[in-house]
Amino acid sequence: MALKVEGLRVYYQTLRGDVRALDGASFSVGDGEIMGLAGESGCGKSTLGRSLILLKPPMKYVGGEVLLDGDPLPIWDRERMAPYRYKKVSIIPQQAMNALNPTRKIGRLIRELLEARGVSSRDLLPELKRRLDLVELSHEVLKMYPIELSGGMKQRVVMVISTLLDPSLLIADEVTSALDVSTQKRVAEMLVGFRDHKFVRSMIVITHDISILYQIADSILVMYAGKLAEKGPTEAIVRRPRHPYTQLLISSLPEIGVRHTERRLSGIPGSPPPLLEPPQGCRFRERCPVAFDRCREEPPFEELAPGHLVACWRAHG
Ligand SMILES: Nc1ncnc2c1ncn2[C@@H]1O[C@H](COP(=O)(O)OP(=O)(O)OP(=O)(O)O)[C@@H](O)[C@H]1O
Ligand code: SF4
Ligand SMILES: [Mg+2]
Repeated sequence: MALKVEGLRVYYQTLRGDVRALDGASFSVGDGEIMGLAGESGCGKSTLGRSLILLKPPMKYVGGEVLLDGDPLPIWDRERMAPYRYKKVSIIPQQAMNALNPTRKIGRLIRELLEARGVSSRDLLPELKRRLDLVELSHEVLKMYPIELSGGMKQRVVMVISTLLDPSLLIADEVTSALDVSTQKRVAEMLVGFRDHKFVRSMIVITHDISILYQIADSILVMYAGKLAEKGPTEAIVRRPRHPYTQLLISSLPEIGVRHTERRLSGIPGSPPPLLEPPQGCRFRERCPVAFDRCREEPPFEELAPGHLVACWRAHG
């Protein structure tokens, strides 16, 4: 198992109290697995991704364990995480392509990043060039400033940089969101290529766009309001989702062409609960069309079938 997460809790400390953005996540990602992470804006996807690499205030580690390739990751200790960061676990942060230093040419930017991580850029130059070829970028980009590149080109540069040290796990946070549809498809395929070429062993692809996940993910994990709702093989999540929230998410996506109910929803009515003081019991209760008394208690996130886990009393009933 490449990644195993047990009971992970990460909150944001604010003047009004703790925002319980990740409130007890347990899941695993297998060797070679591309796991999609989906859910509405604000449900905690980036918090989960970021907590596996760098917990910066106001983020606060509250509890839980993370194992990567069998080794515990000291995610609560910034310094002890340093040897793992980018070498064992790497991230393409949300908005990364817009954060490239505009005053540096790409070549220099990569050199400085590698040196900051204690790696000689000269040794890695041949591999860097090979990877630029693979993402269909000319070596000329090394002599260019970020502003001279299109969005898709910048995103591919960021993908190459973040995987140059062959991390075991890559977290890709909304890497396709800002791109046009045809570029999205290419970039998504390239992520799969990175796994197939073994630049990374496994991957968490964060997106609110399930159609991208349907294209590239082996499994999908759906979050709702800081909790895990459902995880399963992509086909099962798309064709036979068991959590009412996943069912609504999927049925509001006409392009996948799957209908679970006769009703077509253009969205999910209502909004998620506040994470400052989340309600007891199932956090989806207020919006759930099939809620019943028992939902005042929190449902466990349990396996229904091999590799298919759901947190819903109806699914387990
Ligand atoms: N710095 C912060 N301080 C306080 N609360 C925060 C902070 N950053 C995020 N949050 C809260 O934590 C929750 C989870 O945020 P997160 O960014 O993980 O969501 P997300 O699922 O990645 O959303 P999106 O799809 O919009 O990127 C949200 O309710 C958000 O308001
Ligand atoms: S536990 Fe209850 S409220 Fe929550 S999703 Fe299932 S049926 Fe709906
Ligand atoms: Mg996010």
